Amino acid sequence: MNRILNFGSLNVDHVYTVEHFVRPGETIDSLEMEVFPGGKGLNQSVAFARAGAEVYHAGKIGKDGGFLTQLLQSAGVDVSFVETINGYTGKAIIQVEESTGQNSIILYGGANRQMTELYIDQVLGAFSGNEILVLQNEINLVEYILRKASKKGMLVALNPSPIGEELKHWDLHGVTWLLLNEIEGEALTGEKEPERITDVFLKQYPQMKIVLTLGKDGALYRDKDKNFRQAIYSTQAVDTTAAGDTFTGYFLAASARGVSPEEAMEEAAKASAITVSRPGAAVSIPTRQEVLSYPF
Ligand code: RIB
Repeated sequence: MNRILNFGSLNVDHVYTVEHFVRPGETIDSLEMEVFPGGKGLNQSVAFARAGAEVYHAGKIGKDGGFLTQLLQSAGVDVSFVETINGYTGKAIIQVEESTGQNSIILYGGANRQMTELYIDQVLGAFSGNEILVLQNEINLVEYILRKASKKGMLVALNPSPIGEELKHWDLHGVTWLLLNEIEGEALTGEKEPERITDVFLKQYPQMKIVLTLGKDGALYRDKDKNFRQAIYSTQAVDTTAAGDTFTGYFLAASARGVSPEEAMEEAAKASAITVSRPGAAVSIPTRQEVLSYPF
């Protein structure tokens, strides 16, 4: 199995359960407030580890972020590359709508925005071609990391989330797996229809393997040989936070084990259904044992 390096964000999530998302000019009371470990990077590292992969997390925290590295370690993630800096750890303010489990998120980058080329070069120096690099878009210098890693021959997985204007100008030839949702797909291609979104990517990047998540409509897998959909496992949604991160983590961990895309997509769909049925981000991600015995 290939080692996975996840260069990504680490956030403290402040989660407010609300009857409805706050509207402009409105002040509302929350029903509950909890603090959880989060960040798309951290969540995905936890998912890789719980799925049984050998994973190394690189990223930065402030002095207030120690519990994030503890959580990663207890999940089995190697945190020796995580640096602590002066200043605040990244933060997320998350509203979760009680009746649907849907969320809306405000980010504060903090330490996630303190990557330097020197730090990146040092971390990448410990890895070689054929190992897997995973990136989201919650840290600075993502394009630099992508370029350097693909030059080394690493297999790059990119989850372009949250989506930003700058991504439209990136060269994605070094990306082996692109994992995104339909909103991100539309922002990058201008297309709304899932097949057309993937057509645009494949035309420009014929070697790319694309996973497009479609909410209640499941997910679409496309590469030059395969084109199929994976349905969701429907469940009572408590909190959808980290559902996408769980899907990404389980899909890539299964791919790193060398299983077929069909098997990887099914395992990912089961894992994210379990995540959605539980509160919180990283803490809601199931172990592989749970996924294998799902539906319970
Ligand atoms: O994908 C969910 C994550 O997005 C949350 O944990 C939050 O920190 C934001 O990064």
